[in-house]
Amino acid sequence: MDFRDRDIISIRDFSKNELLHVLKTAGKIESSPNIELMKGKIMSSLFFEPSTRTRLSFESAMRKLGGQVIGFSDPSGTSLKKGETLWDTIKMAERYSDVIVMRHPVEGSARLAAEAAEVPIINGGDGANQHPTQTLLDLYTIHKSKGKLEGLSIGFLGDLKYGRTVHSLAIALSHFGANMYFISPQALKMPDYYLEELGSKGIEYHEVEDLLKVSKELDILYATRIQKERFPDPVEYKRYAGIYKLDNTILPHVKPSLKIMHPLPRVDELHPELDKTEHAIYFEQAGNGIPVRQALLALVTGMVK
Ligand code: CP
Repeated sequence: MDFRDRDIISIRDFSKNELLHVLKTAGKIESSPNIELMKGKIMSSLFFEPSTRTRLSFESAMRKLGGQVIGFSDPSGTSLKKGETLWDTIKMAERYSDVIVMRHPVEGSARLAAEAAEVPIINGGDGANQHPTQTLLDLYTIHKSKGKLEGLSIGFLGDLKYGRTVHSLAIALSHFGANMYFISPQALKMPDYYLEELGSKGIEYHEVEDLLKVSKELDILYATRIQKERFPDPVEYKRYAGIYKLDNTILPHVKPSLKIMHPLPRVDELHPELDKTEHAIYFEQAGNGIPVRQALLALVTGMVK
């Protein structure tokens, strides 16, 4: 399997075997890190939208493997301010680096960047569309905590309309026979085209508004934030803000083995009292961004096969 020069744009671009290959590579890098693997390579880190985990873990991943990082976290300090296009910005970054990691608020922008660039583009999130590297670290986390990916019952809770991490993860889990529960208010339900895609693959899914109706079924509860920045109307956001607030009162209603995940950042949907419980794995999940992103950087630059 050869990932050299490949763009990482959508989780749909991965076969099941390719997903497993990235996870296996991440496991190998985590168990025996090579601090010179990316020596002489430069990563552009182009963040047109705020980020803590994705940007910092990519930058840390690259540096821990001996590579270097250039880029920006605030586009107002770049020539975009003077009217330069995304296309031209990418044409510059490809001349200065071996791989480009980009986050952008516009859906489809990562695909456009991949058309512009000769070097690999890794999508760090494009609008409400896709967040494939988050999905890979989510799969890595699920496998680490459950020892398998096949046949799990997963509940997705919160803003399933705008939550790109949910979109990517549901598609990835469709390779592994997951039983999916989509828990959201009607207005923030999983988009129909994702449900149709899952249905066409024979995936069993259920849509409910009340978590308690399905909480006992779940092996994983994947909670998400209501995505304030994606709502066209702030009044509409206020209607749904705070609609789900998980705290220790949920614990009598779940399996003892339930694991709670969250892509983070959280707002008020996960009470910090849950952090100390055996159920919470969301900080480990964020930490798994390092080996998974190291694997992706090394694979697309051809430093590992
Ligand atoms: N999970 C995630 O994408 O976090 P950031 O927005 O902080 O990168």
